Amino acid sequence: MVFIGAPFTPHGLNDGKAGFPEFHNVYVQPAAFKAYRATGKWPEGTMMIKELQLVDDPKGEFPDGSRIAPSGRGYFPGPVNGLDVAVKDSKRFSATNNWGYFNFNHAAPPYLVEAANKPVEQCAGCHMANAHEDMVYIKFYKPILTPLPTLSMAKK
Ligand code: HEC
Repeated sequence: MVFIGAPFTPHGLNDGKAGFPEFHNVYVQPAAFKAYRATGKWPEGTMMIKELQLVDDPKGEFPDGSRIAPSGRGYFPGPVNGLDVAVKDSKRFSATNNWGYFNFNHAAPPYLVEAANKPVEQCAGCHMANAHEDMVYIKFYKPILTPLPTLSMAKK
């Protein structure tokens, strides 16, 4: 899978009550990544994985939960803590803008082997109401989804 971004909503910045207090590491299949870069559309069968990853030291050193590492003050990745999946399939999920949503646990592994499509109010509803484009919060991934300009070799 190709890594496309990591939105992050820690407890320390959400009054200790973030719904998803982890780094949200988002991945998509290589074929869907290439197709989006080429066409600006997610093909049928696109699967997005969001693996949740806790902060290494939940209390941190500061009231906002951050702490100091040699690189500076910030938040640093700890244990993985859950797996969400979104699948684009216009036949199966036509009622929810062509995407289905699955949760394979919101806790430390082991993750479930199988999961059922979640009811609209638990997942798809918020994506239908708020997502930027085709049910995906695309603005957070555009920096990686946009092909980068390449430097050409200097000619002597
Ligand atoms: C209250 C709104 C809300 C609900 C409910 C919600 N999501 Fe999301 N979801 C978001 C936001 C905002 C993002 C992007 C930013 C982030 O991850 O913080 C996101 C991102 C995702 C992504 C990464 C791809 C994308 O669309 O950006 C997946 C996969 C995902 N959610 C699955 C789920 C699943 C599965 C559920 C139900 C268990 C769920 N979501 C419930 C708001 C929501």
